[in-house]
Amino acid sequence: MIKENESLSKHTNFRIGGPARWFVEARSETDAREAIAFAKEQSVSYCVIGGGSNVLASDEGFFGVVIQMAMRGVRIEGTTVVAEAGAMSAAVARQTAEAGLQGMEWAVSIPGTIGGAVRGNAGCFGGEMKDSVVSVRVLRDGKIVEVAKDTAQFGYRESSFKRSNDIILSVTLALEPGDREALLKKIDETLAKRKASQPLYGGSAGCMFKNYDATDEDLQRLQREVDVLPSEMSASRRVPAGWLIDKLGLKGTRIGDVEISREHGNFIVNLGKATASDVTQVIALVKTKARDRFGIQLQEEVQYVGFNN
Ligand code: EPU
Repeated sequence: MIKENESLSKHTNFRIGGPARWFVEARSETDAREAIAFAKEQSVSYCVIGGGSNVLASDEGFFGVVIQMAMRGVRIEGTTVVAEAGAMSAAVARQTAEAGLQGMEWAVSIPGTIGGAVRGNAGCFGGEMKDSVVSVRVLRDGKIVEVAKDTAQFGYRESSFKRSNDIILSVTLALEPGDREALLKKIDETLAKRKASQPLYGGSAGCMFKNYDATDEDLQRLQREVDVLPSEMSASRRVPAGWLIDKLGLKGTRIGDVEISREHGNFIVNLGKATASDVTQVIALVKTKARDRFGIQLQEEVQYVGFNN
């Protein structure tokens, strides 16, 4: 069913965004294909979202067709799992743990769909999507293509799907047999860790910026700017954006109804009536300060929708 002028604030975890001229909840591959055909008929563009958890939609909305992947089937055969793109990552984590399969427990604490998690190679608490992916079924120029893991160019929060028009339809995962009770316990522990370190109030898109891969020069500059550079950062050469924002003294900063979380610097929170424009101003502020003080160019992890209509 095609909805008209559907507010994107209802479909994003940020709870921000103007209307999508057309909005389709695709419950099957056929729905997705039909939505694309409809966009062609109307001569407008389309964009695909999953759970809306990593999306910043503009206040003007999107003048085209927004397709939300809502096919949520999960099939488990032995240690192989086939999850449709719209299955929630947390549901995949729980269902596989219940089935005594190990490897996806970490995903219980991430919002959003498995399709979105594959696209952004989501990860947390030591797990990463690419560790379990075997292949990804996509719609490419109207044809179904099976993309093998080694051609998907997975990297830190990166994949070929981010840079192509491929629409992820489903993903095949290979997991390991494990002890069901121990896996369910790990799921509870993962959720508790997330609760302890990340804000659960307000709307947000999870981490706003990618963590930063530092060069020797970056590390030396940071060393001069902060009292103590944690040894794990020098060793991994990856500087957490949340830590940088903390060091910039920006936690708690507010513009309009947007706040840089007091709990975790990489979370930008909608306190209630925030606009996308407020959020982009906070993003600009953080990026400018990080560049001016540390010479570091932060990059957003969030996906923008409707900013170049
Ligand atoms: N830190 C601070 N101040 C802050 C926030 C963090 O000093 O305000 C320090 C922490 O004390 C820690 C370090 O920075 O020493 C790293 O922080 P944390 O362990 O919270 O992890 P992160 O690097 O900020 C990453 C992912 C999260 C994921 C967590 C848990 C990115 C951008 N973020 O965060 O993913 O949940 O690890 O594994 O890679 C997301 O992608 O949306 C996301 C939230």
